[in-house]
Amino acid sequence: MSRWLVLGGTQFLSREVAAAAVARGHEVVCAARGRSGPVPEGARLVRVDRDDEDGLAPLRGERFDAVVDTAIISYRWVREALAEFADTAGHWTFVSTMNVYSDLSRRGGGVDDPLLEPRYADPEGPEDFGAYGSIKVASEKAVVETVGDRALVVRPGLVCGPGDPYDRFGYWPARFSRGGRALVPDAPDQPCQLIDVRDLAEWIVLSGERGLTGTFDASGPRTTLGSVLEGIADAVGASDLERVPVSPDRLFEAGVMPWQGPHSLPLWLPESHHGVVDRDTAPALEAGLSVRPLAETAEATLAYEKEAGLDRERQAGLTSVEETELLERIDTAVP
Ligand SMILES: NC(=O)c1ccc[n+]([C@@H]2O[C@H](COP(=O)([O-])OP(=O)(O)OC[C@H]3O[C@@H](n4cnc5c(N)ncnc54)[C@H](OP(=O)(O)O)[C@@H]3O)[C@@H](O)[C@H]2O)c1
Repeated sequence: MSRWLVLGGTQFLSREVAAAAVARGHEVVCAARGRSGPVPEGARLVRVDRDDEDGLAPLRGERFDAVVDTAIISYRWVREALAEFADTAGHWTFVSTMNVYSDLSRRGGGVDDPLLEPRYADPEGPEDFGAYGSIKVASEKAVVETVGDRALVVRPGLVCGPGDPYDRFGYWPARFSRGGRALVPDAPDQPCQLIDVRDLAEWIVLSGERGLTGTFDASGPRTTLGSVLEGIADAVGASDLERVPVSPDRLFEAGVMPWQGPHSLPLWLPESHHGVVDRDTAPALEAGLSVRPLAETAEATLAYEKEAGLDRERQAGLTSVEETELLERIDTAVP
């Protein structure tokens, strides 16, 4: 048993990491405000606010065998955590992103691809989210420069599975389970790559235990949007489900957004971003990242979707009214 610090622990990935570490017999301290949800059973929450000046003071002087930092978009948070714990931490995992690469259209690349220029200033507000990749580059750099001999930098692709606050992958199991005519992007050959949050969390914990170091693109094997949607439909689709493919041009004309957000079709991406879902993840898979079958992810995500409420206002996808209107428009359009 060793002592783990999970910065976060109340939501999605960091919560799964804390749960996996508890399940593997470690003592786990989660450091968060406690606003996003409870920490997993068996973990201890220490309330901190990383936006505050000296926000990690409640943990001052504590020593950890392993630290996991999932700081989403703050170089300052990353630097302050390093200043507080780097000297004594046995192993350090920083969760970054595949958005660090400067050319997101380049397919099949690996971790040595060129990166964005680092940005050290934190975002000015939610509208400044474009800074995400470059702040992660600066954050990775700080981690490697400070604890490079003990650091694992994980660059995940799309993280999916139960508890996803972004509602992306979950749109499809939820939609297909409802059945009837479901609008899908007519892009079956588009690359697609996913990682179940539980698989990623388990690997992060195993890697911390083994002292794995280096930088990895962390996602499942390369596949296509067509086979992912097919796999979800097979696993959880209603018997009367009919998938209605609509060309990307028509979707764009109708104002449907790719990937995420309101009025979108999640997982669908324009070519300019195909590199984000087509990376060489063989090194992570060889280093022990184990990926469960898609059907298991679809089933667990649907269970979570039902618990969260299938009719809730979603962060991503089309509402049923929007989808019906689009299908009617397409049915009546002159070919
Ligand atoms: N989701 C994806 O598809 C995806 C893809 C690529 C990379 N990633 C990366 O994966 C990582 C995990 O992302 P996630 O969305 O699952 O989030 P997460 O890091 O697991 O959850 C956010 C955590 O931060 C805590 N937090 C927020 N504001 C805080 C504050 N001011 N002080 C202290 N703690 C605070 C939250 O707790 P409280 O609210 O309780 O304080 C929560 O526990 C991120 O680094 C992200 O960039 C995600």
